[in-house]
Amino acid sequence: MGVGVLKTYRELLPVTEATPMITLGEGDTPLVKSNRLAAELGCPELYFKLEGCNPTGSFKDRGMVVAIAKALEEGSRAIMCASTGNTSASAAAFGAYSGLPALVIIPRGEVAMGKLAQAMAYGAKIIMVNGNFDAALELVRSFTTKHEVTLVNSVNPYRLEGQKTAAFEIVDSLGDAPDYLFIPVGNAGNITAYWRGFQEYHQLGRSKTLPRMMGFQAEGAAPIVRGEPVSNPQTIASAIRIGNPASWKGALEARDGSGGAIDMVSDDEILEGYRLLASQEGIFCEPASAASFAGLIKLHKKGLDLSDRRVVCVFTGTGLKDPDLAVTSVAPQTIVVEPTLEAVEAVALS
Ligand code: F0G
Repeated sequence: MGVGVLKTYRELLPVTEATPMITLGEGDTPLVKSNRLAAELGCPELYFKLEGCNPTGSFKDRGMVVAIAKALEEGSRAIMCASTGNTSASAAAFGAYSGLPALVIIPRGEVAMGKLAQAMAYGAKIIMVNGNFDAALELVRSFTTKHEVTLVNSVNPYRLEGQKTAAFEIVDSLGDAPDYLFIPVGNAGNITAYWRGFQEYHQLGRSKTLPRMMGFQAEGAAPIVRGEPVSNPQTIASAIRIGNPASWKGALEARDGSGGAIDMVSDDEILEGYRLLASQEGIFCEPASAASFAGLIKLHKKGLDLSDRRVVCVFTGTGLKDPDLAVTSVAPQTIVVEPTLEAVEAVALS
């Protein structure tokens, strides 16, 4: 009933008597079983975690609600973040909800239209910089060190605390952890948070196993795969266009601690996954999200045996965030006709 992650998982979150139990209805997102693509991948148990169903259309709301609740508890007067778009949408929404002015710094010309529209509608002050996400995050770090403004990027520890609840939900739904978790990696906060969530549940005895964490970066923005920062990251998946992830270490710990992998997929592979999910499964996620599925296809092609494996792919944001890409990246399917039954029949029955 939209009670939110603070109430649902309060024992496992940094909630005190003084924490306001705010919510915009985040969390409790669907875990949908693949209906068609699973068979092609030889993976009978393939699930999709639809994080685009969160109130602002991405997983960021899980962490933002905790960061904002703690900011309110601590008497904060304003919040700030750098963003490729989704964090800014979420910060702006929770800022509006709780009466905290939100300042967002975004790379100019690199944020998808839906995300920009959200930050504007929620009333954030939007500062566009002539630089990439990594530069924007550096500015936010400097600004919030100097001024009394709460930083709400995932370097704020409360963000990852909230985001780990997605791992709890997966275990709660499946009764145990999956064998593999496929997830896109940008600033690397989310893979770090999921791994923490799975480990905490395991320690509490709520799952018998731990998943292998399979993180995927975009080929043109794959610093962790390459082992060094990328100064000019490029990819169609603007959400993960990041060259120097803040949670780099957390991602390596997730990879190594779980026996998983951090790999990369090309923009073509991302777009193929994006189109397949929409046209074969009815799931419209944003390109960055499709990197997780593109990674699964890539490893399947390389011979990874999924026949008796339980696999979860995390789709971090909705496709509606980036409508321009949706319209330009699929073959045109619209046909204009005169408003007569004959004209409609001529097209529809052909
Ligand atoms: N998918 C989407 C849709 C995202 O927006 C992001 C990150 C990621 C995946 C990667 O998650 O950074 O925790 O590894 N978006 C951030 C933002 C950077 O500013 O909205 P990560």
